[in-house]
Amino acid sequence: MFDRRVFNFAPGPATLPEEVLKQAAAEMLNWNGLGMGVMEVSHRGKPFMACYEEAIADLRELMNIPDSYAVLFLQGGAIGENAAIPMNLMPLAKNGPKADFIVTGIWTEKSAKEAAKYGQAHIAATSAATGFNSIPDQKDWQLSDDAAYVHICSNETVGGVEFQNVPKVAKPLVADVSSNILSRVWDINDFGVLFGGAQKNIGPAGLSIVVVRKDLLGHAMPITPMVWDWAKQAENDSMLNTPPTYGIYLAGLVFKWLKRQGGVAAMEQQNIAKSNLLYDCIDSSSLFTSKVDKNCRSRMNVTFYLNDESLNDAFVEGAAKLGLMNIKGHKSVGGMRASIYNAMPIAGVKALVEYMKEFERGC
Ligand SMILES: Cc1ncc(COP(=O)(O)O)c(C=O)c1O
Repeated sequence: MFDRRVFNFAPGPATLPEEVLKQAAAEMLNWNGLGMGVMEVSHRGKPFMACYEEAIADLRELMNIPDSYAVLFLQGGAIGENAAIPMNLMPLAKNGPKADFIVTGIWTEKSAKEAAKYGQAHIAATSAATGFNSIPDQKDWQLSDDAAYVHICSNETVGGVEFQNVPKVAKPLVADVSSNILSRVWDINDFGVLFGGAQKNIGPAGLSIVVVRKDLLGHAMPITPMVWDWAKQAENDSMLNTPPTYGIYLAGLVFKWLKRQGGVAAMEQQNIAKSNLLYDCIDSSSLFTSKVDKNCRSRMNVTFYLNDESLNDAFVEGAAKLGLMNIKGHKSVGGMRASIYNAMPIAGVKALVEYMKEFERGC
């Protein structure tokens, strides 16, 4: 039991900026002087439409998204989009539905498996042999001539493996950006589609974001459910069904917060500083190790292991006593994982590093 906020290193749903939560709390009962909360108003009414438009405009500004891309606020999470993507894009392949996958962890594995229900999911490269601790060199990717697109995950949340540069490919690049959207500067023109769930770097679970180049719209398979047909959603302001209004409102508050922090470039500098603190601590320790190749270590999900695994429980329990929560690694890989998204203050990372040093001294 805590009577204060803790440092929450959860991978998602994840910590949100305190300022944003305070504003949301203050507006819960009476939003914009309407005498009602934002959750209680019509999604088609003027006040909510203004909130929606502003959130889209702020996201466009933060990520420098040109008009040639549509921004959709949908539901179904990244897992839902794993099905929507092949349904929307695979028909663009010239010899029958097909896409290339660069498998760098469990999320791209899942994406390929889901896509295989709709067409050929060709594994053009995989780092499975290294236990998903690396990214295959692009020169070794076996890309197909007849694939509609190339699918990557820009940051594998479980393994802590992140592309440091957006790969340039001839086909539209489709990227699952669930866990590193808005954490580093990208040139949107390098992507055909960006997609992800909001519950890591943006807001509450329930909102998913799709940014899609407009020329890729309008090719969906006839079986595509209406709500996952991106062209239809784009024509209808993402409102073919009732959108996740509270998630959109909260995402909008996070976008304003990001703008006040100096935007994505400023966040990127902070994320470099925060992740360096942790990796420096790991690299200079004889108790902790990172298994991920140095050239693709994630700035968002820092995974590490104790050389003596019998100390794992004591390490996690000791951290929790200090209010350093949710540092246990994903069950499929074990070890530890500190998720340090945009909203994790540097003070949280410093507190964790201090604790790691203290724990090691006590061993
Ligand atoms: C990179 C990545 N992709 C996909 C997912 C699944 O997202 P959702 O639960 O929103 O469908 C996650 C969730 O943790 C993730 O980290």
